[in-house]
Amino acid sequence: EKGTYPHFMLKEIDEQPLVLRRIIQEYQDKNGNLKLDKNVRAAMKTCDRIYIIAAGTSYHAGLVGKQFVENMAGIPTEVHVASEFSYNMPLLSDKPLFVFISQSGETADSRSVLVKIKEMGHPALTITNVAGSTLSREADYTMHLHAGPEIAVASTKAYTAQVAVLAILAVDSAQAKGLNLDFDPMQELSITANAMEVLTDQKKTIEELVRDNLGTTRNAFFIGRSTDYFVCLEGALKLKEISYIQAEGFAGGELKHGTIALIEEGTPVIALATQEAVNYAIRSNVHEVVARGANDMIFSMKGLEQDTDAFVLPQVHELLTPLVSVVPMQLLAYYAALHRDCDVDKPRNLAKSVTVE
Ligand code: M6R
Repeated sequence: EKGTYPHFMLKEIDEQPLVLRRIIQEYQDKNGNLKLDKNVRAAMKTCDRIYIIAAGTSYHAGLVGKQFVENMAGIPTEVHVASEFSYNMPLLSDKPLFVFISQSGETADSRSVLVKIKEMGHPALTITNVAGSTLSREADYTMHLHAGPEIAVASTKAYTAQVAVLAILAVDSAQAKGLNLDFDPMQELSITANAMEVLTDQKKTIEELVRDNLGTTRNAFFIGRSTDYFVCLEGALKLKEISYIQAEGFAGGELKHGTIALIEEGTPVIALATQEAVNYAIRSNVHEVVARGANDMIFSMKGLEQDTDAFVLPQVHELLTPLVSVVPMQLLAYYAALHRDCDVDKPRNLAKSVTVE
């Protein structure tokens, strides 16, 4: 039920801090140790490479997950769009572990990969929001998202839940390998939940940014580097899916290789700057587009901000920034759709779960 909310999407955006806190609780025992299926732990320990398979928003969460697993647990990881995998299968390592990420657990493109790799005899873990779903039943192991039912077609709380569960999986594998992390991951996740809460209280600011910058635009670009680039892909998908604004996410450095030709007077360019290592580079990309007439909106992390930035995000651990930077991206899409009188929860031509290939 929507309760007092006008749309499920807004309700689900607001639920994100709560979902993150629930995940922290579900994956910890009473002594504060991580609580994971021991078979998942063993599978992570035995594998020599992880293949993440997903579609749409879940694929974008997978891109962030790869960074977690590689940075924290040191396991080489590839992320594949499910619908492409079967036609373009990479050479597999000796001991692959397949990780399927799916809110619904019913996505046909992912299922067809699961069937194929099971025939080949490889182990599979499904990370899903729906216990008993097809992808959960047919995989060897399941990790639950604990996000509660997600009704709006545009995925929001499932994305942040996927990112959080992937972080926990990576942390657990790092600990199992005896690798020392130089931060307390569960504490950083709780700090992040608080930061998300601050953001859900800043809807007015985002609504104003939409009114001033996305009101009548035909297109919009999202640019970022590194982790921010992955969130840009998600921000662009959200915006196009529900507001029908033609939106694309780009790696900042790729602009000059073609896309910059599309920048005209007033073209909205949303830039993310949450990572110190890329802060300078992404800001110089913003200068390049502004010099060609773009209307920039920089979303920066506290500590990296400049006076002209459109929005400053509360500071969280550098690896966890997608959990906060995605929230204003979701809200931008929500208010843009609202502003244009679009059907927020049920955008045209789309279904909540895509059960055909
Ligand atoms: O249920 P799944 O996570 O497998 O769904 C995958 C995509 O269909 C889904 O994320 C889609 O891209 C969303 N509508 C995006 O908001």
